[in-house]
Amino acid sequence: MKKPAPSYETQELREFAEVLRGRRTINLFLQTLVPEKLVEEALEAATWAPNHHVTEPWRFILPGPQTVGRILDLCKKMVAAAKSAELSEHKRQSWSEKPGWLIVTCKRSEDELRQREDYAACSAAVQNFMLYLWKAGVGSKWTTGAITRDRRFAEILGIDLGTEFVVGMIWFGYPKVTPSQSRKELSAALTRLP
Ligand SMILES: Cc1cc2nc3c(=O)[nH]c(=O)nc-3n(C[C@H](O)[C@H](O)[C@H](O)COP(=O)(O)O)c2cc1C
Repeated sequence: MKKPAPSYETQELREFAEVLRGRRTINLFLQTLVPEKLVEEALEAATWAPNHHVTEPWRFILPGPQTVGRILDLCKKMVAAAKSAELSEHKRQSWSEKPGWLIVTCKRSEDELRQREDYAACSAAVQNFMLYLWKAGVGSKWTTGAITRDRRFAEILGIDLGTEFVVGMIWFGYPKVTPSQSRKELSAALTRLP
């Protein structure tokens, strides 16, 4: 005889689901500093992401104001070259309002499967980071815009592109506006087989 499963309809589980569903990508942040210790705690939680063969393939870079300034200058330069001087100044200004910056890299691997699994692990780590912050009232945005694939960006951050690649740049801070989002019904993604 199979035993019945223990009750799972708990307040804790409902609250946990609320964190998973409620986290949103935030574009506009308040100019309130996020405590350094909270960021470190979120990064420590990030390292508990599943990672095949326990490769721990991630590296977390927290740029200070000087380094952020160099990223802003590069952003401006890239937008000016691709679009217009006016737009580049606007973009520099909007990026300068991001209160927190994190860059996540993944170790490169010669082995294609290992590389794919390591990238998956890094993505799970980013999600851990974002969810931990969200539970503390801090929003974030994961971006993989053109700058994150630019050699000059890697140089500014001391990223060795021969041995690692950028998984994303994550801005974080207390949300000024929390957008709404929707998802398809689960049935659109779920297949049950006999
Ligand atoms: C790998 C990855 C890269 C992303 N890059 C960008 C980006 O470059 N620009 C952007 O606006 N959003 C980016 N996003 C955020 C998505 O647009 C966002 O998750 C999506 O709109 C759903 O919104 P939600 O996170 O609030 O559920 C990225 C998300 C992931 C997972």
